[in-house]
Amino acid sequence: MMEMRHGKETHRATRADVAQLAHVSTAVVSYVFNNGPRNVAPETAAKVRAAAKKLNYRPNSMARALRTGSSKTLGIIVPDLSNPFFSDVYNALETNAAQEGYSTLFMASHQDPNKELDRVSRLIARDVDAIIIRSDKITAEVIEAAKNLKIVVRAGAGYDNVDLAAATARKIVVMNTPGQNSNAVAELAIGLMIFMARNKFTPGTGTEIHGKRLGIHAYGNVGKLVARYGKGFGMEVYAYDPFITDKAVYEKDGVIPVGSVEELYSKCDYVSVHIPATEQTKKSINYDLLSKMPKGATIVNTARKEVIDEEGLAKVLAERTDLKYVTDIAADMQVVLNEKFGNRVFATPKKMGAETQEANVNAALAAANQIVAFFTKGENRFQVNKW
Ligand code: 3PG
Repeated sequence: MMEMRHGKETHRATRADVAQLAHVSTAVVSYVFNNGPRNVAPETAAKVRAAAKKLNYRPNSMARALRTGSSKTLGIIVPDLSNPFFSDVYNALETNAAQEGYSTLFMASHQDPNKELDRVSRLIARDVDAIIIRSDKITAEVIEAAKNLKIVVRAGAGYDNVDLAAATARKIVVMNTPGQNSNAVAELAIGLMIFMARNKFTPGTGTEIHGKRLGIHAYGNVGKLVARYGKGFGMEVYAYDPFITDKAVYEKDGVIPVGSVEELYSKCDYVSVHIPATEQTKKSINYDLLSKMPKGATIVNTARKEVIDEEGLAKVLAERTDLKYVTDIAADMQVVLNEKFGNRVFATPKKMGAETQEANVNAALAAANQIVAFFTKGENRFQVNKW
């Protein structure tokens, strides 16, 4: 980072410079200067401090704020501590919002979402003004414990993991970061299609996606990109979205709008699912809908497992030995599906649609910037709850 001092341009050492000299990750440098949640061995901390001294490194305002007891505290909840998303958020705050002075960063992780998360989240929530999450749950209990909480940013598209009613009742702003990880998810959807067309890369003859009919179920940020990439592969692309009734929106992309979800499923060889999980959509992709699909069709789900009626899916896969189901979010009954339907079903071992370096950085930057803009300018463009 270059900065002007007394009219002269000088190089100001960054956290990355210190990390390089001390042979540690940038996150470790943060932990040393910000009392990070992870314990750093004393000899490592000493190495980091020595490197910082040598480079005349001045910790950013976050660290300074910590010492001066400034106001805002931020909690970040990530699926596991090795997830680079945390340091991406930190970098975003350091480079784009250093002047805002978050006093402490709390980070929590959970290995077993069902058991640990609420306890960990409650602990974090108790002390913070803002929380950034990915798919981790912010339950009513967490909200209840969060006496200072003013804003939750879901670094991603779906916000079904936040108890909106509980947040709204306390006038806690909930935001998402739409579009930031869409490309990653869209690329995975296309990859999964090809993977299934080639029989999960087992020896034998597969098929091509070129010339096939692709149905986009919900024409949002991800759906639009899947449509565009599908067209790149020479697919004939259809779309259905009950919230976008203006045909021009589809037609300008060379996409054919259809009038109902039933029409989409009956027409298309591939249906790529992009609907959120809401009370209306849960289990809405059911036996009746799936039975309408043409011979040899494949359902590609990179959205949410909850939108699939799993019993209905199992039934239709048993009756129709030509159908395939591929998903980035394993079904609750995935083990049974795998056993029964072998090469016709596949679930990624762990949800990975948004797990790219690029998506991590995009979503982290957006989440950090949205929080800062909210506190400094009252900006609420991406707020998803109202009161
Ligand atoms: C989203 O809603 O943005 C995606 O499902 C990504 O979720 P993740 O943050 O859990 O990877």
